[in-house]
Amino acid sequence: MNLTKPNYQAWLVEAADFPKNGAFKEKVEFLLRYAILAPSAHNTQPWAFLVRESGVKVYIDKKRRLSHSDPEQRQTYESLGACIENLVIAAEHFGFSAAVEYALANIEEDSDKKLVANVNLAPSAGSRRQHDDLFDAITKRHSAKLEYVSDKIPESLLSELKTFWYAKDKIGRLKDLNDVL
Ligand SMILES: Cc1cc2nc3c(=O)[nH]c(=O)nc-3n(C[C@H](O)[C@H](O)[C@H](O)COP(=O)(O)O)c2cc1C
Repeated sequence: MNLTKPNYQAWLVEAADFPKNGAFKEKVEFLLRYAILAPSAHNTQPWAFLVRESGVKVYIDKKRRLSHSDPEQRQTYESLGACIENLVIAAEHFGFSAAVEYALANIEEDSDKKLVANVNLAPSAGSRRQHDDLFDAITKRHSAKLEYVSDKIPESLLSELKTFWYAKDKIGRLKDLNDVL
């Protein structure tokens, strides 16, 4: 990837530049630099944010929806989900607790945007960095638009994937089951 092009400079975010002595808003805006590196359908980046005292409101930016290829907005919501996940991973990395509160239908919608979630952020005394192994991946991850490789998926990765469980609105690893039971 040629990171010297202006549109790639978003990827040059450095964790060391986190404004640890800055105001809450400044810190949250820094976290959003990680949120916007999420994958999105056709690279539409269909998100918009409003930083508040308690965290961030995350919206669908209606101008960026794909009304023909994604009429039911499934891909838009998946893109927003990836963005929110990046935000949570970054928030926990920099010492916040992050609680995602999904918006109910028809709440806060106008012609430009639609509320998807409130991500409530608060400084966290304990180190709850359960996703920290993923933090480094945020700035390294990208989609490979190449032909599929014919290599077999390593057995170790297949077994790891089998340890994930999925239930209603949660996804986790088998060893974390006790957290939700
Ligand atoms: C919901 C969703 C659907 C996607 N569908 C495709 C797809 O069908 N084919 C493809 O090559 N990439 C697909 N992508 C990958 C996007 O094109 C890619 O995330 C976007 O161009 C940004 O590039 P990046 O992931 O390298 O940051 C999809 C991504 C998302 C989030």
